[in-house]
Amino acid sequence: MANDDTRSFPPNFVWGAATSAYQIEGAWNEDGRRPSIWDTFVHRPGHVRTGETGDTAADHYHRLAEDLELMSAIGLKAYRFSVAWTRIVPEGTGAVNPAGLDFYDRLVDGLLAKGITPYPTLFHYDLPQPLQDKGGWPNRDTAKHFGDYARVVGERLGDRVDHWITHNEPWVTAFLGHLSGEHAPGKHNPFATVAATHHVLLSHGYAVQALRAAARRPLQVGIALNLSPAYPATNSPNDLKAVQFTDGFINRIILDPLLKGRYPEDFTNGWLWRLLERGLSRKPRSLIQADDFKVISTPLEWIGANYYSRGVVRYLPVIKSMQVRPRGSEYSEMWEIYPPGIFDLLTRLHKDYDHSNWVVSENGVPVHDEVAADGGVHDVQRIRYLQTHIAEVRRAIAAGVPVTGYFVWSLLDNFEWIYGYSKRFGLVYVNFESKQRILKDSGKWFGQVIRANGLPPEG
Ligand code: FCB
Repeated sequence: MANDDTRSFPPNFVWGAATSAYQIEGAWNEDGRRPSIWDTFVHRPGHVRTGETGDTAADHYHRLAEDLELMSAIGLKAYRFSVAWTRIVPEGTGAVNPAGLDFYDRLVDGLLAKGITPYPTLFHYDLPQPLQDKGGWPNRDTAKHFGDYARVVGERLGDRVDHWITHNEPWVTAFLGHLSGEHAPGKHNPFATVAATHHVLLSHGYAVQALRAAARRPLQVGIALNLSPAYPATNSPNDLKAVQFTDGFINRIILDPLLKGRYPEDFTNGWLWRLLERGLSRKPRSLIQADDFKVISTPLEWIGANYYSRGVVRYLPVIKSMQVRPRGSEYSEMWEIYPPGIFDLLTRLHKDYDHSNWVVSENGVPVHDEVAADGGVHDVQRIRYLQTHIAEVRRAIAAGVPVTGYFVWSLLDNFEWIYGYSKRFGLVYVNFESKQRILKDSGKWFGQVIRANGLPPEG
């Protein structure tokens, strides 16, 4: 790198913030929007720990103008948001809802007017309920419907939007939705999990093709993956095996089909694959059909990595791997805080996968923020988290990894899935009663980072 200043970033580095539709929009039953699996899930008692729902969330749907002003006040170069399928094609397939398209049209125009690059994500967990009623992601037809929906959005926004994300965290959709049941639709079914994994990946490929077909200009299409580097609890050969298993189970099961056109071999020799095969033999047609991998591995302009924490694992018979909490580490309200993990992740991606454009598509931390007597929100813990992680991203760039962007999760405090409103990730504080917004110290600090195109001196 020509610039030996270890704080400054390459020219045109993309600094952004991210959100998702269900977590911020509210207006859950307005202007033709129909229920998604998250509406169903949160309205059934017992799923969200706080008993809350995203019915009104941060009320972004009605406060678009104010939120655009906040993005501008921070100085964001890019804004990553998700489009709610249930606003665009409310039944999942069939009739298009013009009011839904109008909302994202206004958002995109508002961003462009402020010089902020839109990065829409087509899917952030909110599958239309009518498609769930027909089998959801384990049903192969859902992948086709997703491609059709992608085409509709691409046709409407593709004259102004260059940067696209098909899915947010396919692994979470498949595994938290169908195996652990922590996310909608709340299933505990390994067969459904494997089928959902494959169909979400397939739907990604269909969406890439649909977007390109609808586009009137060259597109930059990517995907945002939850990736977490695994480390052994000890150096015992068994714990190293647990690392290999965890890495396959969480990272390579998604990365390999996308970037190598196949599932990882050590994984296909394991118990999960055998489960898959048993699942297959019960089905009239096979899960993986000819050309699926060609569709799934359609080349992408960029790959997004969402990084929050690492996994430290220990070997256990049968389940092979168990996560442990390393002693002496610092923890946020949700996870271990481990900045070098983002360096290890990015350098590993660069080493093992042949791609020339990596983006940190989410990074952030929940903090128990409070409004101080002076009316500000002094979230020093978040500033420290972002500062230490951005420094590690810079170190990865210096080590030769082509990282071209970094998005903070999140622009706004929002509905954090099963935790309801109890976890605040925003650069902007939201009072969930009044919906009033306050730019936090971290938002101001991130603005300085953007203006300097690098980290300000500490202190
Ligand atoms: C990511 C999700 C996002 C948010 C953050 C904290 O896994 O993409 O919606 O929940 O975690």
